[in-house]
Amino acid sequence: MKALCWHGKNDIRYDTVPDPEIEHGRDAIIKVSSCAICGSDMHLYDHFIPTMEKGDVVGHEFMGEVMEVGAENKELKVGDRIVVPFTITCGECEQCRRGNFSVCERSNRNKSLADKMFGHAGAGLFGYSHLTGGYAGGQAEYVRVPFADKTHVKVPEGLTDEQVLFLGDIFPTGWQAAAQCDIQPTDTVAIWGAGPVGQFCIRSAVLLGARQVICIDNVPERLSMAEAGGAITINFDSESVLERLQELTHGKGPEKCIDAVGLEAHATRSLDSVYDRVKQAVMLESDRAHVLREMIYVCRPAGVLSIPGVYGGLVDKIPMGALMNKGLTVRTGQTHVKRWTDDLMNRIQEGQIDPSFVITHTVGLDQGPEMYKTFREKQDGCVKVVLKP
Ligand SMILES: NC(=O)c1ccc[n+]([C@@H]2O[C@H](COP(=O)([O-])OP(=O)(O)OC[C@H]3O[C@@H](n4cnc5c(N)ncnc54)[C@H](O)[C@@H]3O)[C@@H](O)[C@H]2O)c1
Ligand SMILES: [Zn+2]
Ligand SMILES: [Zn+2]
Repeated sequence: MKALCWHGKNDIRYDTVPDPEIEHGRDAIIKVSSCAICGSDMHLYDHFIPTMEKGDVVGHEFMGEVMEVGAENKELKVGDRIVVPFTITCGECEQCRRGNFSVCERSNRNKSLADKMFGHAGAGLFGYSHLTGGYAGGQAEYVRVPFADKTHVKVPEGLTDEQVLFLGDIFPTGWQAAAQCDIQPTDTVAIWGAGPVGQFCIRSAVLLGARQVICIDNVPERLSMAEAGGAITINFDSESVLERLQELTHGKGPEKCIDAVGLEAHATRSLDSVYDRVKQAVMLESDRAHVLREMIYVCRPAGVLSIPGVYGGLVDKIPMGALMNKGLTVRTGQTHVKRWTDDLMNRIQEGQIDPSFVITHTVGLDQGPEMYKTFREKQDGCVKVVLKP
């Protein structure tokens, strides 16, 4: 079959690889009808996530039709149309029983590797390095879904791929980021990053009843999309983020701050971002923490910092004194996708939201390697890419 494979920094190829096969009774094989490129894939593309190997099939936002099911899988049958959550969940371990699906204790088959790096491993993820299980990803014609009896969302009749595809990742990711803010009707929610995840943070914060939603980025078409979703925008190239946030909150700061940027943050006007770039380049620091520092500084005391943005390793110069003395709460994590998908599917069916608003490019899987570049460089107005195998 054909698939997008990682070969090193900025090197994704459209390769021919062996077809996947059932390896375990709970597996399913699906024929991918649509898949997407995620901001998290950029961290692989730019080679910030360790333990990738040449030839690894990438992609973790995908859906399709069930072609084959393992003997123990009683939940799926051939022909079912499903979205696949990017966090692989067994549904039975202590964490899965609590709904903490992204830290499933059983789905990461390279658990000992991740235990060494992080103290305790998280769940297995599709197409996201050997630290998260080394599972082949979904930017491919076919995928093996491990624990498929639990790791799926069935698609009701009458919905298009474009309406439901993002239930596998960015919609629940934006939703979880907002839900973890415990939004009150008097709250200002400030969101750094107007990429696909930021866009879903905005729509989720609005649906959850925030008084004011503010979004920060420097890409004009992304800021326009943010405005269309109900946010006031700040362009960090032409405005001071600190001053504007103070103004918009009458000097008090936003109660809730969301980092939808992650480890590749950039900001041209600040000294600390130059420091991060230099340290990252000489490998003394793996992640750039400019957004984290800015959030800690501007957040209203007793506020919440919600961090869906991905970090891989070490960050430097975190103002711990400000974080502690302001009494801030930090909430973060890979998304517990299945915790949210029933509710979000209902909201799509009721017409509260149509997630397809974020799509700017739909192309064949063979054009994947170019689209990684287009998305990375934010060329051609690109916000979200859907690939059709
Ligand atoms: N927690 C999860 O489960 C989960 C799931 C999906 C994605 N993510 C992560 O969410 C983050 C965003 O994903 P995305 O798909 O939207 O990616 P993206 O790269 O398209 O978006 C990031 C946006 O941040 C902006 N940005 C950069 N520096 C900034 C700064 N200093 N201030 C404000 N904005 C800044 C960029 O211009 C860009 O528009 C990534 O780190 C991704 O890995 C996490
Ligand atoms: Zn993702
Ligand atoms: Zn589990």
